[in-house]
Amino acid sequence: MESTMINAARQWRLKSHPHGLPVAENFELVTEAVREPRDGEVVMRLHYVSIDPGLRLFMNPTSHSEWEDRNEEGGRAVLVGEGEPIKAWGVGEVIASRSQRFPIGTFVRDIAATASVQEYACLHEDELLAVQADVAPLPAHLGILGMTGLTAYFGMIKVAKPRAGDTVVVSGAAGAVGSIAVQIAKMMGCRVVGIAGGPLKCTWLRDELGVDVAIDYKARNLGAALREACPDGMDIYFDNVGGEMLDTCLANLAQRARIVSCGAIAEYNRTGAPYALANWFAIMSKLATWTAFNYFDYLPQSSEGIAALTEWLQQGLIKAPERIVEGIENFPAAMVMPFSGDHVGKLMLKVV
Ligand SMILES: NC(=O)c1ccc[n+]([C@@H]2O[C@H](COP(=O)([O-])OP(=O)(O)OC[C@H]3O[C@@H](n4cnc5c(N)ncnc54)[C@H](OP(=O)(O)O)[C@@H]3O)[C@@H](O)[C@H]2O)c1
Repeated sequence: MESTMINAARQWRLKSHPHGLPVAENFELVTEAVREPRDGEVVMRLHYVSIDPGLRLFMNPTSHSEWEDRNEEGGRAVLVGEGEPIKAWGVGEVIASRSQRFPIGTFVRDIAATASVQEYACLHEDELLAVQADVAPLPAHLGILGMTGLTAYFGMIKVAKPRAGDTVVVSGAAGAVGSIAVQIAKMMGCRVVGIAGGPLKCTWLRDELGVDVAIDYKARNLGAALREACPDGMDIYFDNVGGEMLDTCLANLAQRARIVSCGAIAEYNRTGAPYALANWFAIMSKLATWTAFNYFDYLPQSSEGIAALTEWLQQGLIKAPERIVEGIENFPAAMVMPFSGDHVGKLMLKVV
């Protein structure tokens, strides 16, 4: 192993827990030395860091106790305390190694957001997966071939279980997970309705991703648009948004519909009481099922998802655009972008 001896590496830390939308004052950019790897560890030089809405949840004080339970079970520390590095997924190159599995020069990504928003990460080999940089450019290993793509894949294939002819509605359809989820549902022979904000996103969903109907929820009454787009109701609602949008979709379910809760971005910055659903009785009257799932649940099956997504990508069957923000110093600005919705596809920060 060569000595790393990096004395000044930049790292973003949580200065204070955000109240509502994060602000720059919640974060602190520090510079410190990178420690030498111990047995089984490597130092990874991060090239890209994934910016996900879920990072905002990691910044909550202790409100997501189920994740703390998961930490105890699986040793995955996703919650971030004040003064701690901001947890995030990353991809990069091994520059120092005391791991047989990942020698210097290997490209790797982390499994559970321990790479964090920093220039270098000292991680144990069990926290890492090797990535094939010749199969796809590095950003793709954070996007379609990383946590994001796997979430869309397992959420759609294993949880929603689409059947040909199903009407599938996806919210946040132009986002990182949603844009992959709609394409998978199309490949499964479904009629796909995407919900997104703004005419550009809706045109892109129709013209580039092939969704059957794209609803601009900012321009139209969503309930009326859904009744028009799904006259027989929706068989699957793949929910990335939660809150009022979920409520409106509940009012338009087909008999025995499947609701899949992937995320609830509309709720992540809420400071008051959570949105109270008015239409929950539709679950009973439509004999619907409602399943929430988490990317971590499917970690043992990751290789299946990566293989399928890689094949679709290589065959040109799936598109996976990226929005790359340059410079680690721009993390605070990037962190609010998922909530303003001004990007399509996968958002990430270029570190190197
Ligand atoms: N279950 C899991 O393991 C897992 C893993 C990854 C992600 N997720 C969840 O999946 C969802 C999507 O993640 P992503 O990575 O695709 O995010 P993303 O690429 O950042 O896209 C998020 C999109 O959500 C829309 N949005 C934001 N605030 C909204 C609001 N108040 N109402 C309606 N739409 C809103 C915006 O698009 P518009 O312009 O269209 O509004 C935004 O572009 C999130 O809820 C995330 O937490 C879950």
